[in-house]
Amino acid sequence: MTKKASEPKARKKVKRTGTSSIWGGRFNAGPSSLMEAINASIDFDKRLYLQDIAGSKAHAQMLVVQKILSVSDGNKIQAGLDTIEKEISSGTFEFDTSLEDIHMNIENRLSQLIGEVAGRLHTARSRNDQVATDLRLWVRDAIDNIDVALKDFQQVLIYVADEHAASIMPGFTHLQAAQPVTLGHHMLAYVEMFGRDRGRLQDCRTRLNECPLGAGALAGTSFAIDRQSTASALGFTKPMVNSLDAVSDRDFAVEFLAAGSLLGVHLSRMAEEVVLWSSPQFGYIKISDQFSSGSSMMPQKRNPDAAELIRGKSGRIIGSLNSLLVVLKGLPMTYGKDMQEDKEPVFDVADTLGLCIAVMAGLVGEAEFNLERMKADSGRGFTTATDLADWLVRVAEIPFREAHNITGKLVKIAENKGCDLAELELSQMQSVEASINEDVYSVLGVENSVASRTSTGGTAPANVAAAAKAARKRFLI
Ligand code: ARG
Repeated sequence: MTKKASEPKARKKVKRTGTSSIWGGRFNAGPSSLMEAINASIDFDKRLYLQDIAGSKAHAQMLVVQKILSVSDGNKIQAGLDTIEKEISSGTFEFDTSLEDIHMNIENRLSQLIGEVAGRLHTARSRNDQVATDLRLWVRDAIDNIDVALKDFQQVLIYVADEHAASIMPGFTHLQAAQPVTLGHHMLAYVEMFGRDRGRLQDCRTRLNECPLGAGALAGTSFAIDRQSTASALGFTKPMVNSLDAVSDRDFAVEFLAAGSLLGVHLSRMAEEVVLWSSPQFGYIKISDQFSSGSSMMPQKRNPDAAELIRGKSGRIIGSLNSLLVVLKGLPMTYGKDMQEDKEPVFDVADTLGLCIAVMAGLVGEAEFNLERMKADSGRGFTTATDLADWLVRVAEIPFREAHNITGKLVKIAENKGCDLAELELSQMQSVEASINEDVYSVLGVENSVASRTSTGGTAPANVAAAAKAARKRFLI
């Protein structure tokens, strides 16, 4: 008989007995369909199959070394788990809702494949330490994937920054043009933010990388297990110290969602800028056809849907963080089935972030910047007023507060005349402050302004080019 043919038959057997073959010993009747519906997590926790199988293999191997399991039983279990992994990967595995979750689906299939030896795998283990281990492994992989995606994204941003180290644009505070900056500097600001996001996820990774396996249901086990070996086999730094904590807390998932939320917020802020900048009113960027969409009614429209969705999805990510925090807040130690609700937020956030990062990288990498427009805007709104005040401090040795006041008066004159500060005549300036001379014009253009911002972390093109180079070393190697 082929394995495939035997599968449905054995599954029917489970259903006919009514009670669970895995925990139904003390029950006379099986669960109602409603109970099954609320209890089952297989529809989503099937995503843990690789981690579950890796955990089972490490556990079985340890049981053999510790002589709790015979070598031949251990080999059968390893081979059976290999088969199951192939079946699930290739899509031939039939998941069964009545078997609740991924752990029981796999165990049940193992018993179909290797018979009652399968029942020995669960020696010195509970689903409680099993699921805690699986989810830690899954989040660890998710962090590694997000890290790669963020690194690729930073590469795009650094490339744009380098190209535009000297491209001038308005810098804003309160969304009012404040001082000229460079586009490269603006891009590198995001490189820093995403760099810290990577750092936060790494911190989370470091803290989560301890192994719950061997904690059993909650109290540990009477078998002479070797927790260090299972921890090492699964790439954990060490076993978790306290068995109750090991099965009880999901703080690592919360940390992942919190770091993910902040990353989502950074993406959202950037998305908001894409939305603003791509509007005809700003006209700073043109989103490529590949990342734009049209309107079904207005033929002229070119909408930034991708950016809007990234902005919108951050709400969903923050919602996931909230949802897990609320699930956990009233739980007494240790495990409660409430914790089964930990997975969907985690999966959804990992998926959503993966998509948003890739889309944002594509969108920014392909966007066209309207440099003339940005530069023209950068001088509007008296954005070099601070340069004038600084000149008064530096050259005329006037205290900054007074220089600020004098400059304010000059701005008022220019505003009334409808001209720029650089367009004021020297005599007009001197009527406000006698010590002003010709040299003042050297700081009034936007180029002069950005070139003068050479303080550490400042926007001077030379600084930005150097910062882009440094960012490559810091983030991309
Ligand atoms: N599906 C369960 C979860 O995700 C596995 C652990 C079940 N443990 C239990 N004692 N019922 O939390």
